[in-house]
Amino acid sequence: MDKFIVEGGNPLRGEISIKPAKNALLPCMAASLLTGGKVTLSETSNLMDIDSMCRLLQHLGVAIGGRPGGALSFDASEIGTFDAPYDLVRKMRASVLVLGPLLARFGKAKVSLPGGCAIGARPVDLHIKALQALGAEIDVDNGYIIARARELTGAPVFFDKVTVGGTENILMAAVLARGTTTISNAAKEPEIADLGNLLISMGARIEGLGSDTITVEGVNELHGATHSPIPDRIECGTILAAIAITGGEAVIKNADPHHLEAYILKLKEMGADIVAGEKQITVRSTCALRSADIMTAPFPGFPTDLQAQFMALLTQAEGSGTVREEIFETRFMHVPELQRLGADIRLEGNLAVVRGMTPLKAAPVMASDLRASASLIIAALVAKGRTEVNRIYHLDRGYEHFEERLSALGASIERIRG
Ligand code: UD1
Repeated sequence: MDKFIVEGGNPLRGEISIKPAKNALLPCMAASLLTGGKVTLSETSNLMDIDSMCRLLQHLGVAIGGRPGGALSFDASEIGTFDAPYDLVRKMRASVLVLGPLLARFGKAKVSLPGGCAIGARPVDLHIKALQALGAEIDVDNGYIIARARELTGAPVFFDKVTVGGTENILMAAVLARGTTTISNAAKEPEIADLGNLLISMGARIEGLGSDTITVEGVNELHGATHSPIPDRIECGTILAAIAITGGEAVIKNADPHHLEAYILKLKEMGADIVAGEKQITVRSTCALRSADIMTAPFPGFPTDLQAQFMALLTQAEGSGTVREEIFETRFMHVPELQRLGADIRLEGNLAVVRGMTPLKAAPVMASDLRASASLIIAALVAKGRTEVNRIYHLDRGYEHFEERLSALGASIERIRG
């Protein structure tokens, strides 16, 4: 298993360009199942999650051209199976996004429950309920979602809770359903609008993208299209935190500051000097940062996917700050590892209280999930000595060549293959 050795103390400086968004690419790749025409994503990222989705689509019979990191094209004209097996799905929860498209175009799908979790623990109940509203018959049996539909019919869909994946699945099903579907309490994340824009360029009729009510008028069929995905706001936010914690200064290109408003406001409140342009962000963080309080929320709120990285930053700010996690209540796996580096963090349920300005000192730490890994690396950038970050395969799921990108900004970070 690969690990990183990070030597703290270097301020990050220079220029970096943000990669295409993983969480936009994955649903767009699944959307290629909706047509026999060729769908091309003109730019992609070289990530393990993109490989996993490629493997799943290839298993279903999709012919893929190009390579992750460059343009990728998908030809789903000859689908051979409608099964997404456990072995391919367990590695990545987003695999469940093939359910809506398979059902809409072929009237059948069998998809493993993600992560081997019971439906109550990491549920996809809202995806299932929404597809049932469109007339799908769905059974959950032996860890599989088995869905059938002679024809999907547009209907009102109301999500009890805002769900990104659930909104994407129903959107992809509704575009080929007969009649009108209205999705209420839809997720407003930029990745949903990006998927919707691809679907529109494939011939779908969709209104209200980016709002909490999306209306879809079903069409008989979709055609191929070429799409350029949005930049990765989570990669951008992670790099911003890395620059801020080291007291660095950099220009971030190919960024969309509108996708990070809540996050940028918090960094400014802490004292970071941030200038947001149309497509770039300039950040300077020379002065001491002040603590702040955050609470995660669906877009446009503070993203849960930047909570761990922000917590690392709070360890070096003046005063005490709080982090309330409202989306995934147990998403604090990074806390004991940050504590190993010397962070002063107290947990009270879904609230973390971080006392800042604690000197961090190198220690072996272990990444537990994708964003937690990023948080540990950010902390290691200011820890005294050489921190060993283990299990960075989690990081490789969602950040392309993170060590090379941070090294280019002046960080001392090395991958040890193992
Ligand atoms: C997506 C993102 C993930 C991000 C999350 C929240 C992708 C590939 N992943 O995940 O990085 O952290 O949004 O912004 O885009 N829930 C239910 N029932 C369901 C579905 C969800 O109860 O059927 C709950 C979840 O347990 C969670 C909340 O709803 O508490 C939000 O989850 P959701 O928005 O669906 O997250 P994902 O789409 O899995």
